[in-house]
Amino acid sequence: MKQRVAPAKSLRGEIALPGDKSISHRATLIGSISQGISQIENYCPGEDCNRTIEAMRQLGVEIVLRGGKLRIYGRGLQGLSKSPAELYAGNSGTLMRLLAGILSGQPFESVLAGDQYLNRRPMKRIIEPLSLMGAEISGDKDQYPPLKIKGGRLRPICYHTPIPSAQVKSAILLAGLHADGQTTAVETAQSRDHTERMLRAGGAEIERQSTKQGYQVSIKGNPRLFGQNLSIPGDISSAAFFVVAAAIVPGSQVVMKDVGLNPTRYGLLEVLRRMEADIRVENQREQGGEPGGDLGVNFSPLQAVKVEGKMIPTLIDEIPVLAVAATQARGESVIRDAGDLRKKETDRIAALVTNLRKMGAVIEELADGMVIEGEHRLSGALVESFGDHRIAMALAVAALVAQGETTIDGWEWTLTSFPGFIEKLDSLRKG
Ligand code: S3P
Repeated sequence: MKQRVAPAKSLRGEIALPGDKSISHRATLIGSISQGISQIENYCPGEDCNRTIEAMRQLGVEIVLRGGKLRIYGRGLQGLSKSPAELYAGNSGTLMRLLAGILSGQPFESVLAGDQYLNRRPMKRIIEPLSLMGAEISGDKDQYPPLKIKGGRLRPICYHTPIPSAQVKSAILLAGLHADGQTTAVETAQSRDHTERMLRAGGAEIERQSTKQGYQVSIKGNPRLFGQNLSIPGDISSAAFFVVAAAIVPGSQVVMKDVGLNPTRYGLLEVLRRMEADIRVENQREQGGEPGGDLGVNFSPLQAVKVEGKMIPTLIDEIPVLAVAATQARGESVIRDAGDLRKKETDRIAALVTNLRKMGAVIEELADGMVIEGEHRLSGALVESFGDHRIAMALAVAALVAQGETTIDGWEWTLTSFPGFIEKLDSLRKG
């Protein structure tokens, strides 16, 4: 499906965002293996999180979804039952990798499959630690989905992840629930910590520590996990498109209510502030162990920036829209140490370079990032999502500051995380 996006004169108004996708996945997965009922509000309406509900239903969990509210009848750590059919993760790497951790502790065989994009994403990163714990896992060419998993009682391990990845860390921690003893994941830079926060809030014993080498987190096996009542904060990764849009479209003033502001996720805000963006955080609060608040962004001219190292995991999903911001910033912006972007829903580095060049940006491709020279006036073009929701939405933001109309092909992929994105964007257009 093609979506046409016209330039904007300015953006003004107040919006709310769909619930955080990462936290929504975890709420369903952890609620399903807890004891008792979990009630979840503001569940992410994207397709990825619906797949998680479907998968857990196939594993015998009763889940009722009504008007964005979820009621999960948890079955406890050992209460899942073998699915009669293969489990389908669709486009979702988070679902596949986290569920693999849970299935590694279940005494039956499961098959976990994905769509054409997910089936090309690397799974060795979870097969290795989960096999060390004792799960029997095989994949296509030993590293791609579909994954066949035969689980059981597991051994605790201490595992150093080769790249910081919340999906890998979470798979290990979820498997660690089924290990006799303490399981530890060590990262060179801290990735998002929603899993450890939610497990701790549900009753698991979690120890976490920032170290000279990075970050490490441990979980004690066989805890009693209890159902939780959670209100999921707005997704900062969805807010990111509006944050950058308001920062680069002259005259804009946009307020976003109830956005998740977990420090392991708000790297984009820090980087944009370094670029001299005008961003306010108000009404800060904490709910269900997750910090949040309201975000206000006004237009202001941006300066180039360099982003690398430990910063990268805190804004990994926001790099597509950060690259768009960099096309509108004065000077040369550099993004490095982000080679894992090539392993996301699509190769995001290649997708950005191809599309933004078509729109007139001056951008050099690096193996692990990009160099972007600003500020350049963009022009409308025919561009392509490559099956990636965040590429599609980042290009819609670029279209707002382009001369002439932009057409984005493969727009339907925005449903992965953000149904209603374009309507929300259009509701802010003024003038
Ligand atoms: C996610 C972790 C990140 C991120 C993805 C969601 C999660 O992946 O890119 O969109 O919910 O754990 P990695 O942990 O593999 O970097």
